Amino acid sequence: MKLLFTNIKELIQVREPSVLKLSGKEMNDLPTIKNAWLLVEDDKISNYGKMDDLSDSSADKTIDLTGKMVLPSWCDSHTHIVYAGNRENEFGERLSGLSYEEIANNGGGILNSAKTLQNTSEDDLYEQSAKRLEEVIKMGTGAVEIKSGYGLTKEAELKMLRVIKKLKHNYELPIKATFLGAHALPLEYKFKQQEYIDFVIEEILPAVAKEKLADYIDIFCEKGYFTVEDTRVLLKAAAKFNLRPKIHVNQFNAIGGVQAGVEYKALSVDHLEEMREEDIESLKDSETMPVALPGCSLFLSIPYTPARMIIDTDLPLALATDFNPGSAPSGNMNLVVSLACIKMKMTPEEAINAATINGAYAMELSEKVGSITKGKLANLIITKEIPSYTYIPYAFGSNPIEAVYINGKLIE
Ligand code: NIG
Ligand code: FE
Repeated sequence: MKLLFTNIKELIQVREPSVLKLSGKEMNDLPTIKNAWLLVEDDKISNYGKMDDLSDSSADKTIDLTGKMVLPSWCDSHTHIVYAGNRENEFGERLSGLSYEEIANNGGGILNSAKTLQNTSEDDLYEQSAKRLEEVIKMGTGAVEIKSGYGLTKEAELKMLRVIKKLKHNYELPIKATFLGAHALPLEYKFKQQEYIDFVIEEILPAVAKEKLADYIDIFCEKGYFTVEDTRVLLKAAAKFNLRPKIHVNQFNAIGGVQAGVEYKALSVDHLEEMREEDIESLKDSETMPVALPGCSLFLSIPYTPARMIIDTDLPLALATDFNPGSAPSGNMNLVVSLACIKMKMTPEEAINAATINGAYAMELSEKVGSITKGKLANLIITKEIPSYTYIPYAFGSNPIEAVYINGKLIE
């Protein structure tokens, strides 16, 4: 099947050859072709060019995109899309003055979601999660990472990961699975943190590896959750199963999680709302992608990741949603791109690069998605008629998308 898009107002993020990631000043360059055509053959991007040079007319179907733009789909490298129920009651409590920490200490937060998930059947969990996945695909996400971490028992963690496996099987976009057994300390392990980490390592991790349920390992390295030492011990154990780290660090406190991540060759270190000079320093010359989650900063009213400091130090940066029931109940990457510009002072070019090719890197998918490159998957966003790509972050909260293609197929 050959599908030809013509009269594209601007074809955005065109890279030949593609890069793996962009750092520092490179992030401010967003290559485009104005008045372009794009040919999709089956599931892949096969060719493109300027309308003036269009000679190939052998397409099975031609779609005129006058006034509209085409981008590679968003690559959302950090989500918790698989969860049960919601926590809008806690949101209400926060609005009346309780803090996220106080709610968690009262048995709310992650433990609240875990209790609900433990009592939800695998089929029901799948249905709830699939609905969210379909929602984010329609909002332009064409590759996504999904974590466990709301199970916190062997059975429930495996249930979550099996749901992710089923989503991988039933949906065409690339999905990566991350095992986040060390997300919070279950009540029955109160004052026995070491025992829980041992349990995760000795009981759950081998079962996850045996069923090949995870691509990556994660831990919430934070005061009141898990220590840097716990992080090192877990990452070391996971390395034996070839699970590379993608970890939650520096959300509320900078305690050395970034360094532990870099030490264990983390693919990404995520959150980074609190960054010290030495945290930035440790990322230099590493293969680790820093990932910012501005939807979480907005929702919890906490600081935004210091994107300017990171990018101006010549580091790369990726953007993701953190879609979860407690700290970021939205999987809208368009809004994330807006927030990055409005609140983190990123340029539209930097934000689009961070949400596409750098997000792809943070899932080891740079060779498949994240740019308009011949041979990459035809996972595409077709915009409505918009004046420029800067309009996407500018018109925050409005939907710039007219249509979405995954593997060359229109999502209805
Ligand atoms: O990435 N920080 C840890 N985990 C999630 C939120 C967990 C929750 O509140 O359910 C996050 O923000
Ligand atoms: Fe998260």
